[in-house]
Parts: sequence; C-alpha cells; structure tokens
Amino acid sequence: MNMTEIERALRELRLSGIADTLGTRVLQAQAAQQPFIETFAAMLQDELDRRQSRLIERRFKRCGLDERLTLADFDWRFNAKLPRSACFELHTLKFIAEGGNALIIGKPGTGKSHVAKAVVYQATLQGYDVRYVEADTEFARYGLASSQEQAALLKGWVEPDLLVLDDLFLARRIADVSAELLQAIVHQRYKLRRSIVITSNRVVQDWGKYLADATMATTILDRLMHRCAMLEFEGKSYRMKEAASRIAIASDSA
Ligand SMILES: Nc1ncnc2c1ncn2[C@@H]1O[C@H](COP(=O)(O)OP(=O)(O)OP(=O)(O)O)[C@@H](O)[C@H]1O
Ligand SMILES: [Mg+2]
Repeated sequence: MNMTEIERALRELRLSGIADTLGTRVLQAQAAQQPFIETFAAMLQDELDRRQSRLIERRFKRCGLDERLTLADFDWRFNAKLPRSACFELHTLKFIAEGGNALIIGKPGTGKSHVAKAVVYQATLQGYDVRYVEADTEFARYGLASSQEQAALLKGWVEPDLLVLDDLFLARRIADVSAELLQAIVHQRYKLRRSIVITSNRVVQDWGKYLADATMATTILDRLMHRCAMLEFEGKSYRMKEAASRIAIASDSA
C-alpha cells in the first residue's frame, strides 16, 4: 500500500485519529529513527485522544447548554460573601456519585447560573450524562407538548446522572402542569438517587406560593433537601457592573 491507500484504509476502518497524524508520525519516526513499537504506540494514542475528545464533545452537545463556563472565569472578589468553598466542593462533583442535590438560591445577577453552568461543563468533561434546562422555558414547552412528547421529555429529565434546573420560578407563578412536572421529576430522580441542581432567586419558604400548593412544595422540598447542599448567594448584581462599564465605555468614546 502507498500512503494514499493507507489513509483510505484507515478512514474505512474509522481510524481518523491515526489517519490525521500519519504524515507527521512517519516523518517523526524517520527523523528520530524511532523503534516501530514507539511509533505504533504514538499512533494508537492519537486515535484514543481523538475518540475521547469526540465523546466529550458529543456529551456536551447533548447536555443542552452552549456556553462552556468555568469557575476560573469567576471573580470571587466582586461579592465577598458568596459561599466560595461550597461552590468548589460542588465543582468536585462528589455529590453526583452520592446522589446528592444542590440548591443555589439568592439575589439576581450574583452568579448562581454561572456556577451551575460551570458544574454542568465540568460534569460533561468527567464523563457524566448531564441535562441543563432553563426551567421556565422548558416547562412551558412541556405544557404545550402532546402527551407522547411529554413522556419523552420527562424521560430525558429523569435519566441523566445530573439534571440542572436553572432559574426556577423566574416567572413567579408556574402553571399547574409545570408544578406537577417538577414534582414528577423530583420524586422520580429521588427514588433513583440521581442528582439535581436548582438555581432560583426565590427563597424556598415561598415555593408553596409559586407552586400554588403548599403540600406539593413540602413533598418536593422534603426530597430535594434530604441530601442537599444549600448555597446562598448574597450581594450585588454583576450584570449592573457590566452595564455600568458599558455605559462608561460609551460615554468615554462619545
Ligand atoms: N462574580 C462574578 N464574576 C464573573 N462573572 C460573573 C460573576 N457573577 C456573575 N457573573 C456574570 O454575570 C452574568 C449574570 O450572572 P448569572 O446569570 O450567573 O446570575 P444569576 O445569579 O443566575 O441571576 P438570576 O437570579 O437573575 O438568574 C453572567 O454573565 C455571569 O457570567
Ligand atoms: Mg440565573
């Protein structure tokens, strides 16, 4: 076989990680007079690396989030009272293995969603099946779906290792169908010991009001809080800071 034929054979065998670096590896082997086994090992590693990064990419795509946020992007000095060590503890993902939950509750713009999204990204990197859901939007979509579609949506929110419900109760009062959905998700995941992370700017004491059903709120919170990290986000809004610096830039250039 010549090089072209070898490359074609590699692609036919779906070994594109090897195919893509073959030219370089051949040159490297010639230049360094490398033993065959060393070159072969490097080629296998290229294929393994390619498969690993594709797998991570697929997992991230499936999680439903398009931003790759990390805690490295987070400015801890902006709000001195944030529960920094609890955020890093969450980021270790130990809670997923233990079937624990987390409630990230607090003031608007303080970074609750940012931290939750960083946990989502980290969990996809670590090989977990994760689903990120903007609660109000997705719950409204569920309300409009056929019963067959609803069953499929619910399954998609019960099965993953980690479910993140972001910005729950943004709309204050949620429809009865959404309240029942939340209950179904929490009850089913609780039975299966699968983790949920919820962010909300509504304190849990008021959830009964937003669900329009105090008993339902109790049964939901009871399960959520059984094994749960509570993270309270106090402080000022980072959005205001961003808006203020935009205004400053605009007036400087005027
Ligand atoms: N301390 C911070 N350092 C860097 N960026 C931050 C910080 N806090 C918030 N942000 C950024 O500010 C924006 C708003 O933050 P985020 O959406 O996480 O707030 P939130 O607490 O979820 O607010 P809400 O209750 O309104 O949903 C995001 O773009 C986020 O990345
Ligand atoms: Mg948010």
